[in-house]
Amino acid sequence: MTFSLVSPDRAAELKELSRHWPSLTLGEAQLGDLDLLISGALAEPVHPQPTGSPAAWRDPEGNLLAVRDHEGSLELLRAPVHHDHLDLRVPPSEFDGAGRVAVFLTRPLSRESMARLLGHPVALFALAGESSEIDPYTLVRCLRATLPHFADGAARLVVLPFVLPAEPTAALAAIAGAYGCDRVLTLDPEAAPTYLPEVQRELDARYPPRGKQGLTVFFTGLSGSGKSTVANAVRVKLRERDSRSVTLLDGDLVRRMLSSELTFSREHRDLNILRIGFVAAEVTRAGGIAICSPIAPYAATRAQVRAMVAPHGGFILVHVATPLDVCEARDVKGLYAKARAGLIANFTGISDPYEAPEDAALTLDASRMSPEEAASAVISHLESEGYLCD
Ligand code: ADX
Repeated sequence: MTFSLVSPDRAAELKELSRHWPSLTLGEAQLGDLDLLISGALAEPVHPQPTGSPAAWRDPEGNLLAVRDHEGSLELLRAPVHHDHLDLRVPPSEFDGAGRVAVFLTRPLSRESMARLLGHPVALFALAGESSEIDPYTLVRCLRATLPHFADGAARLVVLPFVLPAEPTAALAAIAGAYGCDRVLTLDPEAAPTYLPEVQRELDARYPPRGKQGLTVFFTGLSGSGKSTVANAVRVKLRERDSRSVTLLDGDLVRRMLSSELTFSREHRDLNILRIGFVAAEVTRAGGIAICSPIAPYAATRAQVRAMVAPHGGFILVHVATPLDVCEARDVKGLYAKARAGLIANFTGISDPYEAPEDAALTLDASRMSPEEAASAVISHLESEGYLCD
């Protein structure tokens, strides 16, 4: 079976025909298959295709890429568009793999693997997507940095938008064959790989030690527990010693700037916390420090925030566990009195639940310590866990 792009006229016709067909948004695996089918690197799709015909297959932006008609046959309208690694997305028609060994890479080449490859002309295929064991962009930068260490022309690098299936052997052999390579060489995982200095530098820059990564310090506790005061003290202590930018997402500020339309229903509180989590995750991903201090009364929602942030850096949950009677006695904003008088409904601790965390890294009772002591305890914890550089 060969797949080629339909003519512009046919594409226009299909666009028209498929207007009322259900749309299927392709995932990375299917997009990769389409790409390889169009370039001729594959003759058959490898990943299960979305079922249910007829259907209009679209990329995540909604662009129509292919249609599957009533008979189940597939017509391709356009290749997925890429803006990255343009010089390395070489189709088989522009590649002569004769005499080369194909190596499919999901991690950088270690020195040990390079030693195995020296002497064979190689075609290095970077699986720069979901299958990559590290950030795919870093993978390609590492491999680019490796190329000059091979003899002139001995190694060529190709970026393939291919996602490894559970049983990859046949598909990889097919791709290697389409590129004209002699055979596939499999590199076994290594226990303690070592890398060229250029490669190690790329890895260190992308995966710095904790003290140079982004992090989120997430305070949770009742209204009036002292969260904001401690959060602010932690903010200035961090600014004093650390060059990373610090973003404070205090409950009241967020309620004003990001969540002004929300109420205190469970649904709206969750939405409020997820918004905070989204911003904190972005700040963390960018290498900054986010300090959040909402009530965040629900454990499940706090867990969602942890899951959003953790892939990008540190997440430290701090429970400001000032007892309710102390918060109420202080009643800085007069809200507890109003809640007792029934003037405010769903008030946390009075007429709405607060689920105390069981997964806090630190629990502080701000009625037994000064804000200064509480903030110092947070800083000490961050230090001892390696989140701050000296
Ligand atoms: S959360 O539940 O969504 O995390 P958030 O921290 O944003 O709450 O807002 C809490 C602040 O809103 C409190 O410090 C208090 O000043 C005010 N507030 C107004 N109504 C309520 C309420 N029903 N429950 C708790 N806090 C309230």
